[in-house]
Amino acid sequence: MSSHDELSQQVESLQQQIEDLQGQLMRAQKMSSVGEMAASITHEFNNILTTTINYAKMGLRHKNDATREKAFNRILSAGQRAARITTGMLGYARSTGVRKEEIDLSQIVSDVLILCEKDLQMNRVKLQTDILGHPVCEVNISHLQQVLLNLIVNARQAMDGGGMLYVTVRSSEDGSMGELEVRDTGAGIPSEELPKIFKPFFTTKEADTNGQGGTGLGLAFCREVIESHKGKMRVASTVGQGTSFTLMLPVAAATESRKSA
Ligand SMILES: Nc1ncnc2c1ncn2[C@@H]1O[C@H](COP(=O)(O)OP(=O)(O)OP(=O)(O)O)[C@@H](O)[C@H]1O
Ligand SMILES: [Mg+2]
Repeated sequence: MSSHDELSQQVESLQQQIEDLQGQLMRAQKMSSVGEMAASITHEFNNILTTTINYAKMGLRHKNDATREKAFNRILSAGQRAARITTGMLGYARSTGVRKEEIDLSQIVSDVLILCEKDLQMNRVKLQTDILGHPVCEVNISHLQQVLLNLIVNARQAMDGGGMLYVTVRSSEDGSMGELEVRDTGAGIPSEELPKIFKPFFTTKEADTNGQGGTGLGLAFCREVIESHKGKMRVASTVGQGTSFTLMLPVAAATESRKSA
């Protein structure tokens, strides 16, 4: 065998090794995100249990009504927060391996806006919907509705005192992706927080007396769903001006040729 042949054999075997290692790395990353979730959930539930136990002890120790009422309220808030987390987690857990159907993204928009138009009005948020294309994508419809709802709720919460919400549907220039943008004129996200917003349990929303804070699972769920659709999610934000989230989903194979824009 010539030295050239030997060399090319070595290259081939090294390439194979690289591919194997890349495969292992992908599997390890998947496992580590599962581990990360488990650790943070346990931590979060521990905090809630500590609160519950301490206020239960306080209620038992003190006989006066005011203190007991305060203790009950704190226990109730903690319980409600735990319930919100488990509900979010159930959605999160369901976000893999489920049926997908072809649908025009503008249909998802109109279905979701029916649900939240009233809520937007009540919070003095004006809505502008621009349907600039009709991209058809293969999606899990209820998961995508949930994603859009999460983005709209976040936008509304960022516009304390009202503002404008722009929801836009279009096709990418080459027609291969459907795009769905949710833009608000709210508080914006400081650049040092941007890398954290998709992490499970990252929230800047403090729980109020009803336990109605954020769980920080909204965007983590969105990311999970979009990745399971081989899509992408972009965010752009300016503090004091607003935020824009764009979902990009591959157009269904059969419809890609009749470019819909
Ligand atoms: N449109 C937005 N404008 C400003 N900040 C945002 C916006 N969307 C998300 N954020 C920031 O990202 C954080 C994480 O959002 P995410 O939806 O994951 O959790 P949450 O809204 O805090 O809680 P939950 O969705 O469980 O109610 C928010 O707490 C907020 O700081
Ligand atoms: Mg949210």
